[in-house]
Amino acid sequence: MNFLEQELKKRKLPSLMTLSDGSQVQTTQDWEIRRGEIETFLSRDFVGYAVRLGVKTTCETVRVEEHSYGGKAVTEYRELHVRSDFSEGMFPFTLTLPEGAKKVPIFLFLSFTHEIAGGIGEEILDQGYGIANVCYQDIAADYYDEHQTGLGRFCTRNPYDSWGKLKIWSWAVSRMLDVLLEDERIDEKKIAVMGHSRLGKTALAAGAFDSRFSLTVSCQSGAGGAALFRKKSGEQIENLYGKGSRLWFDGNFFKFLGKTEELSFDQHFLLALMAPRHLYVCSATEDAWADPSSEYLGCAAADPAWKCLGYKGFVGKDGYPEAGEAFHEGEIGYHLRKGTHYLSREDWKLIIEYRKKHQV
Ligand code: GCU
Repeated sequence: MNFLEQELKKRKLPSLMTLSDGSQVQTTQDWEIRRGEIETFLSRDFVGYAVRLGVKTTCETVRVEEHSYGGKAVTEYRELHVRSDFSEGMFPFTLTLPEGAKKVPIFLFLSFTHEIAGGIGEEILDQGYGIANVCYQDIAADYYDEHQTGLGRFCTRNPYDSWGKLKIWSWAVSRMLDVLLEDERIDEKKIAVMGHSRLGKTALAAGAFDSRFSLTVSCQSGAGGAALFRKKSGEQIENLYGKGSRLWFDGNFFKFLGKTEELSFDQHFLLALMAPRHLYVCSATEDAWADPSSEYLGCAAADPAWKCLGYKGFVGKDGYPEAGEAFHEGEIGYHLRKGTHYLSREDWKLIIEYRKKHQV
């Protein structure tokens, strides 16, 4: 057994490729069934189910800045309205495209602020990418609001499996995608969803349940993101139960508090839902709370889903990565940046390198 296999064995993970009836996933059809099972575990015991009411969405452009970034781009200010028979909500986002864009790839960036791509929009545009930027707090506030703000109101809250904030935010991002897919200036085959930290967790929840995203990028997403829970260091389920993050998940998730080994899934299940599309995970050496090793092992543990579908999957190395190493060969890309918990230009640079290499 090689080194990574041994490391994974120590984690005592639930088997990704074993169907609930005990048989092994061998074919594409088997994987489709397994995929459905995994979606059930993750919806029931982790992120919760999305709104189960009929809703209608419409999108309005409220303002256009024709010559943003010194004339390099156009920025549209949009409002996405969501209506059901019982409630109504709206969140704004911006869409910035290079001037005269024809079928450009874009980043759907889950942002902590209204600043486009955290303030480095120009550098991204210069690489030929558009940016749909949404400030997550506009979708539903990130504090203990008992789901009374933003789109949280669209669902009767039950203590078991109704949507947590990760699901609310990621569901909203899928509604943005509905709109972006209709836009002829955008290459519908090259829409990446990306986020950092709690928004990396959100990006994964979005990409996992919406196969229209060609690439999902998780930056230092840690616990509840790309990091395996079993034998993880740093943040644990107990920490996520704190008031700041409790509502990110559904109620059932916390049945596993103090019983991590009993979780019906681990994060390689979430990562594997991206197969055979592209997934990019980045970690930072000093981000002990997120735990880079558990993120790296998450990628290795998800790899069999890609292999079973005839793809390369994760082409890493048989050992933990060194600071500065990047693995860009497979459909699962990974890099470990030197430094602390932060979305740096270096992360963006490597992600863009990966996108260009894979044309995704
Ligand atoms: C906290 C939280 C993490 C989260 C991070 C962030 O540290 O414990 O789970 O990823 O905030 O979003 O910055």
